Amino acid sequence: MSDNDKVNTGHHIENKELIKNARKPEGELGHQILDRMNKSHESMAQWGVTHFEIEKDNKILDIGCGGGRNIERFAEQISDEGRVVGIDYSDVSVEKSIELNKEAIDRGIVNVLQGSVSEMPFYDETFDIVTGFETIYFWPDFINDLKEVNRVLKKGGLVFFCNEAVYREGEMEKYDDLVELLDMKIYSEDVLKESLEKTGFKDFKAYINEENDWICITAVKI
Ligand SMILES: C[S@@+](CC[C@H](N)C(=O)[O-])C[C@H]1O[C@@H](n2cnc3c(N)ncnc32)[C@H](O)[C@@H]1O
Repeated sequence: MSDNDKVNTGHHIENKELIKNARKPEGELGHQILDRMNKSHESMAQWGVTHFEIEKDNKILDIGCGGGRNIERFAEQISDEGRVVGIDYSDVSVEKSIELNKEAIDRGIVNVLQGSVSEMPFYDETFDIVTGFETIYFWPDFINDLKEVNRVLKKGGLVFFCNEAVYREGEMEKYDDLVELLDMKIYSEDVLKESLEKTGFKDFKAYINEENDWICITAVKI
């Protein structure tokens, strides 16, 4: 690998062609990045999910489900009355999530669909919980996409997002290469709060993991 193939993410040096696939995994590199993300996002996800409760009969939607590890985690916590649905616009992500969750799909408690967050194939007020791990950076129109999340949530339902990167004034230089490579948007706690309050949510809560600089947020559909 030449130096041109590498990007400094502020924390470590990575392979550019591989990392590009985090936005929309495709082909062989897509398979590789998804295997990797299922592992590399695990500690953040484990920390994140301690901030909300799941009931056994909950209907949970994971948007931008990637390699499907969070679908698997949620499926372990529900009964046959509950459901976990994953949606992702990448066909490779859908394939990987199906592969990882084959048993739960066969049991009828998990489903994985290909589609964009901007227009989801679900009825209004279908889900108790909607989650997104490391995905909102890539959503094409955050406000409209949040309205779509709001539409598919039941009244009183919970939205949860978890990100490894959080916007802080004067501290963003470390993300320059990554932002350019992935054309991603890193949100501050204030913008997340404002955006959710504008799109029909209340009770915004943000949690910061100071050691790793992770953020996760919850809010409730009005
Ligand atoms: C960085 S990966 C994170 C995957 C997984 N949630 C995790 O934490 O490992 C981002 C995922 O979001 C998906 N994604 C990005 N934009 C999307 C959109 N507009 N609609 C649906 N999925 C999207 C990508 O295809 C990719 O699988």
